[in-house]
Amino acid sequence: MPKPRQRYVCSSCGWQTVAYVGRCPHCAQWHTLAEVAETVTAKTPPTAAAEAVLLGDVPGDGETRLVTGIGELDQVLGGGLVAASVVLVGGEPGVGKSTLVLQAADALARRGWRVGYLCGEESPRQVRMRAERLGLSRSPVRLMASTELEPVLARAEADGLDVLIIDSIQTVAVQGVEGRTGGPAQLTEAAAAVVAWAKATGTAVILTGHVTKGGDIAGPRLLEHLVDVVLYFEGTDSGLVRVLRAAKNRFGATDEIGVFEMTGTGLRSVEQPAHLFLAGRDPEASGSAIAAVMEGTRPIAVEVQALAVPSHLAVPRRIAVGIEGARLHLLLAVLARRAGVNAGTYDVVVSTSGGLRIRDSAADLALALAIVSAVRDEPLPADLAAVGEVALSGAVRPVAQLGRRLAELERLGVRRCVVPAGADHPPGALELLPAATVRHAARLVFGATPAGTSGAGG
Ligand code: TYD
Ligand code: MG
Repeated sequence: MPKPRQRYVCSSCGWQTVAYVGRCPHCAQWHTLAEVAETVTAKTPPTAAAEAVLLGDVPGDGETRLVTGIGELDQVLGGGLVAASVVLVGGEPGVGKSTLVLQAADALARRGWRVGYLCGEESPRQVRMRAERLGLSRSPVRLMASTELEPVLARAEADGLDVLIIDSIQTVAVQGVEGRTGGPAQLTEAAAAVVAWAKATGTAVILTGHVTKGGDIAGPRLLEHLVDVVLYFEGTDSGLVRVLRAAKNRFGATDEIGVFEMTGTGLRSVEQPAHLFLAGRDPEASGSAIAAVMEGTRPIAVEVQALAVPSHLAVPRRIAVGIEGARLHLLLAVLARRAGVNAGTYDVVVSTSGGLRIRDSAADLALALAIVSAVRDEPLPADLAAVGEVALSGAVRPVAQLGRRLAELERLGVRRCVVPAGADHPPGALELLPAATVRHAARLVFGATPAGTSGAGG
């Protein structure tokens, strides 16, 4: 019998090696490598050759979709759960993973699917209490409590479940595998076993997994390559908005998001999230601008805010919430160099409302104008939005799907929008203010700078 081989797995990204290194060369995190004993089973000599079928002979009648009826969840999944697939829902503790999967379990069970729910994180009593809060206490979901994976799969198979939910994959152990429950070895073995079982039985499986910032406990990242669909559930600590994002989807698009609101009675799908991301906007306040970002196939109007206060520090503070820090630094540099707006003596804070994390560079122009507004302490016109990417040269670059963004802004009562000059401007009722550069855009909006400001600035 061969000796078990040692290997090291990065708990942050899943990179593997046979020799220990202090820093993962793949994701550049420090001290994330954990030792894993490879389980080596005695190899039996090969007996029969594997089967092969012609590609054209494989039944290809499309996948069976189990629609949950929770609109935003179905949207992110690409039209519902797929039979024999494994979905991983990752997120920080407390974001609402258990709430989401319990609501999904109930919705599926009510549609006639046989649904089992393994509660590893909580006792069945606690799950029952949550269900009461959600108004689901009479739900036909079968609860299981176990810390061992095999008995759960056996029960699920015996009951002929269509859907099995494991909350969470970090709380179940696989027999015969070394390492603590939730550690890298157990986690990958458990997920691999679940995937093989799902394919063999045709059951759809949803796993939840905590993301831990420290990196000392193996997280869902380790499982991304094993499962079919990876969804991350995000939100802010203070805000009630939750965004479900697909990081991987073998059966749908990965740029789709689902928006939910956490209420006193569970998560509510928000099909038209504008009221969340524009809610409470004070048009009289300086530093507030409206952007339109694309999230998957959907345009979303969102308020971006900036605050600039004189700094007492040698190196003024830059704080970005919901926006990449590098993006803020870039825009401040461009504004200083290309538009004559110097925030060098100010502490600058930027954020998005409702906790939406913006990745779309089309929000650059709105953000830049919010910063200019904050530095000048002068509000932007209440009915104005801005859409455009800002280049290092100060140029305002065209963005994809301008027409759909403008239509959404118009629907929400915006009347004017600063847009990239020279782009194809779709017809619509919005008054468009084409700007070639950020300087030009600032002039159009604040009209301040020397007389006759209509020309393109540089
Ligand atoms: P939970 O689903 O337990 O999060 P996770 O499984 O990701 O750790 O959600 C926990 C939070 O959600 C908790 O702070 C309470 C809040 N919550 C509500 O606001 N409303 C509700 O109806 C429920 C069930 C939870
Ligand atoms: Mg939970």
